[in-house]
Amino acid sequence: MSGPLVLGIETSCDETGAGLVRGRELLADSVATSMDEHSRFGGVVPEVASRAHLEAMVPVLDAAFARAGVKPSEIDAVAVTAGPGLAGALLVGVAAAKAYAYGLGKPLYGVNHLAAHVAVDQLEHGPLPSPCVALLVSGGHSSLLEVPDVTGIVKPLGATIDDAAGEAYDKVARVLGLPFPGGPPIDKAAADGNPEAIRFPRAKYHDGTLDFSFAGLKTAVARWAEARRDAGEDVPVADVAASFQEAVADVLTRKAVDACKRNGVGDLVIGGGVAANSRLRAMAAARCEASGIRLRVPRPGLCTDNGAMVAALGASMVAAELPPSPLDVPADSSLPITDVLVR
Ligand code: KG4
Ligand code: ZN
Repeated sequence: MSGPLVLGIETSCDETGAGLVRGRELLADSVATSMDEHSRFGGVVPEVASRAHLEAMVPVLDAAFARAGVKPSEIDAVAVTAGPGLAGALLVGVAAAKAYAYGLGKPLYGVNHLAAHVAVDQLEHGPLPSPCVALLVSGGHSSLLEVPDVTGIVKPLGATIDDAAGEAYDKVARVLGLPFPGGPPIDKAAADGNPEAIRFPRAKYHDGTLDFSFAGLKTAVARWAEARRDAGEDVPVADVAASFQEAVADVLTRKAVDACKRNGVGDLVIGGGVAANSRLRAMAAARCEASGIRLRVPRPGLCTDNGAMVAALGASMVAAELPPSPLDVPADSSLPITDVLVR
């Protein structure tokens, strides 16, 4: 496969990622994480993440080039997550990207992390259909988007009004005594549980909007567990995990299918860390099939933060001959989803 050879750099949270993509072909995806340093705090500590990025950046970049078997001088462009994310963490990646772009004399693309979560699916399933609906579920965001063109036009259809889906996973894990981040251990525990054991609330299920709310669900799980503990009983972790996961997947997939139907769109793509969730993937597959919607979800390793997703979006932008960002492109911790490329 041919196409532009693009280096992607990701440092918006706790993962230091460097990816190399040629066109839509993934050549290397190198990721280091500082998660172990945060887990005892039950959440990512921004300053710790920034320092870890500084230490990991060069080794992660070197590993990506070695794995891909290409030299830095061969790349056509550098793409980097310019936002949204933790300000200090973003700065490290943006500074590294600027150094590579300036030193090599290559164009620099400061891109949106959320659009990159959608664009990464092209590495596995080919060009995104236009338009498609994207369900974006990560630690900080839960959004439904109509995406006519992932390199430039992204229209918000709905979003969470409080906690993101990933945030709810992380908080519920804490209640259940499971490690941080909560998604993977809840997913695992739920495999042995009964998803119908407890009927947790599905907020905004029938409200006619494409918005989400997960704060009430998180509180409901905490109250339920507390009541059991107060009564001197054990909390059935597997059943609670399965029942919580069922509620999250139910609301997300119902609204995603609804978004497709209302907008007459036949293709749904799911991205972000929570898209790695086994129940969400299975329920989305079943509901899309029942509604005649084509579903695309990247493999779990590409759902969580990585550099390949940034390279994938950058390569699409280079292929579309979009003008690059200026070399002084800022990191923007609250970059809106509609700003796909920062100029
Ligand atoms: O996209 P991501 O890696 O980082 C952000 O951009 O936020 O998403 C991280 C989130 C965390 O909240 C984590 O608990 C969740 O994704 N997550 C999962 C799974 N794997 C990661 N949630 C549910 N099931 C999983 N298997
Ligand atoms: Zn992410």
